[in-house]
Amino acid sequence: MPATALSKRSIEDLSQDELSGKRVLVRADFNVPLKDGRITDDTRIRATLPTLRYLLDRNAKVILTSHLGRPKGKTPELTLAPVAERLTELLGREVTLAPDVVGESVKSLVLGMKPGELVLLENVRWYPEEEKNAPEFAQQLADLAEIYVNDAFGTAHRAHASTAGVAQYLPSVAGFLMHKEIAVMGKALEAPERPFVAIIGGSKVSSKIGVLQHLINKVDRLIIGGGMIFTFLEAQGLEVGKSLVETDKLDLARELMRAAKEKGVEFILPTDILVATGINALAAEATVSVNAMPADLMGVDVGPQTIERLKQALGDARTVIWNGPMGVFENPAFAEGTRAVAQVLAERTSQGAITIVGGGDSVAAVEGMGLADKFTHVSTGGGASLEFLEGLELPGVAALNAK
Ligand code: 3PG
Repeated sequence: MPATALSKRSIEDLSQDELSGKRVLVRADFNVPLKDGRITDDTRIRATLPTLRYLLDRNAKVILTSHLGRPKGKTPELTLAPVAERLTELLGREVTLAPDVVGESVKSLVLGMKPGELVLLENVRWYPEEEKNAPEFAQQLADLAEIYVNDAFGTAHRAHASTAGVAQYLPSVAGFLMHKEIAVMGKALEAPERPFVAIIGGSKVSSKIGVLQHLINKVDRLIIGGGMIFTFLEAQGLEVGKSLVETDKLDLARELMRAAKEKGVEFILPTDILVATGINALAAEATVSVNAMPADLMGVDVGPQTIERLKQALGDARTVIWNGPMGVFENPAFAEGTRAVAQVLAERTSQGAITIVGGGDSVAAVEGMGLADKFTHVSTGGGASLEFLEGLELPGVAALNAK
């Protein structure tokens, strides 16, 4: 099993003396969506507040580092200035934006910090050395601080200088967010209360192969949603019209269904489908049985009969992991399947089930419906949560000090 938060040192393992007056480099994932220079969703910023408050309460000097987007060089549009501003509001304390990431100006800024102050370094990906995990660059980051805290679960699947390399040069521990993400998802995967159900959606089987293969060994029921439904249906010999099908994944789809059968995992595919002329159509043309999909239309959401079946399959679930929407939820006409799943899961949570949502699209759907606080855990990781669900070791976690 990959390194878990429980096998790594966390921020709580540091004594007051180890933090007080010390320069602590915190890697956060402030890769937030921006529109016209304004942050449209600050969930990832708010998720780091417990770690930051804990450090400030202990008189640490907090140096924050994060990437934003995928800049090629020092792109001023991808400055972390909006993040510094939002953090200042959320913490009620000034967060100073450094003029750069490393170098003399940054060094003298951090050396002049007083306990309880915060400095946010500029976008760490302004330097190509970050993604190359260049040792000299990691060392330069490490030179700014005395302790390293990694709270960037969303970037933990990247072996970069600020997520992995830097940990070689400083005492390195997990922050609260990192710890929580890995503890909640790790428990669900390793010691779930049963029945354990996974709902895997999204447009392509190819992007979820690892997750499907890993989860099939863990769950009692596997519900398939989103565009990938049609690859599975075609693999069963059904006509799927103009729906998205990955023809090179038909054998794999058959293999997964065979594996599920062998392991006694209930493999749940829709029985009815909403069909439309395209994903941007104003409405569905019809709801049809999966045995009768018209050749000239495409599947865009699951139908009412399937929704009833899903409610049943989730009705007694004690642990649920959900990754990927059920249909083309961005179009309100085709969002019902996704909405229904979100509502059932919110209800299951209130009845004591552990419910975990991961992956950008399903998280966006749940947030858009105002249901995010009704789940046990909404992951801040897209790619990272996917890799975690695949059972892969995340380099950002592996690099931390063992307990
Ligand atoms: C994310 O948004 O998934 C993380 O911040 C990682 O970003 P990246 O895919 O650009 O590495």
